[in-house]
Amino acid sequence: MYKIVPIKKINKTLFVAADKSISHRALILSSLTKSKTLISNILDSDDIKATIDCLRRLGVRIVLKPKSIAVVYGVGKYFLKKQLVRLYARESGTTIRLLTGILCAQKFPVKFEAGPTLNLRPMARIVYPLREMSAVFKNKERKLKTNSEKNIYPPLEIEPAKAITAGKFKMAIASAQVKSALIFAALYAQEQSVIIEPYKSRDHTERMLSLFKAGIKVKSSRIAINPLKKLVSPGKIFVPADFSSAAFFMVLGLIAKDSKICLKDVNLNPTRSGLLKVLRRMGARIKIANKKNGFEPYGDIFVESSKLISANVLADEIPLMIDEIPILCVAASFAKGVTRIFGLRELKVKETDRINSMVKNLTRAGVKIKASSYKNKINNQTDYCLTISGQTRFKKASFNSYHDHRTAMSLIIFSLACGLENKINDISCIDKSFPEFIAILETFYC
Ligand code: S3P
Repeated sequence: MYKIVPIKKINKTLFVAADKSISHRALILSSLTKSKTLISNILDSDDIKATIDCLRRLGVRIVLKPKSIAVVYGVGKYFLKKQLVRLYARESGTTIRLLTGILCAQKFPVKFEAGPTLNLRPMARIVYPLREMSAVFKNKERKLKTNSEKNIYPPLEIEPAKAITAGKFKMAIASAQVKSALIFAALYAQEQSVIIEPYKSRDHTERMLSLFKAGIKVKSSRIAINPLKKLVSPGKIFVPADFSSAAFFMVLGLIAKDSKICLKDVNLNPTRSGLLKVLRRMGARIKIANKKNGFEPYGDIFVESSKLISANVLADEIPLMIDEIPILCVAASFAKGVTRIFGLRELKVKETDRINSMVKNLTRAGVKIKASSYKNKINNQTDYCLTISGQTRFKKASFNSYHDHRTAMSLIIFSLACGLENKINDISCIDKSFPEFIAILETFYC
């Protein structure tokens, strides 16, 4: 059990973990060039280790150097393998989903295995649309013991396709992982493909493909991809800090008393930073400075203790803050009034069901939080909403992280600001995205 001792006030400048999504993509695209790429400030976390291990097994030389530098020696758009390659994605959904988009166009079979939690996460969302592009998977739909829904689950058994076929693909869900898998496969087709998203999701793949000179054009949620001749390395890539990791300390700075926090060099891509808009609606005192515009915009975020008020968050805002809902629930617990967050369907298939993990845990701490279902009028599917009444009387609690990094970090932030000494069962999951999180917290007590 990890004990969380509340803090009094904080006045700090912090460098948080490098962006996980950009780190994955930088490694993958650099591998598909025929030259050397130096990636600086690459994230060192369990998920990124998974992508590095997979790329190395596919024959890519990746040298990790001190000070968060990775040098990637690309092999070109086809990996040089002939026999079955066995890969292990650990618990990284981004690793298995993104790499599968490339692997289904290769000339050798792959058995793509996953860790225990990722084995329970749905893969039909990539397998079905990739099959429409003529990709070949041996997998069949099946039920899991813990889950009554039929789906495709890892391991993925990928066979070489005769040819990847181009086309127009309308995505059923707003997911950057699914979109990226389809974009990657489309690079191997003979003609232009078009992918249409229901709502705009994070666009790191599109931005990085442009940086590597691929033929890709984006017009709101329509993405046109030309067949790939070759990817050209930009030579060097800098990975800014992860907005999702910064979000924990942004919210802490807002809800802790008499506090100020400055977060340095944080990615400010508008398809990632939806939480900024919502927090500002809630009365948060947030300033952005030193904004730089590379292939991804980034800058410094300043936050100060604020009197938060409740907000309504609508379904089309969710993809722009998909990983920040747990920490938004924490902000809402400290805000005056009733916050309603709609469009939360996708939260059910993250590392854990984050609707369940936040409702169960915050209820234990005395927060009035309730989940309800409704029919989403745009796609006619069952969707979910969270209702949180802020500023209730908090209770001392013992939390369950459900082995989910973002649930764990959100509940720790809640506990630091709530004035009571709480406990949480398992925090090793934090290494998935933010291994220095606990070390940063410890500096607050000095
Ligand atoms: C990611 C996309 C999101 C996000 C995940 C990383 C990515 O998943 O939750 O942490 O790097 O593309 P979905 O695409 O499933 O929403």
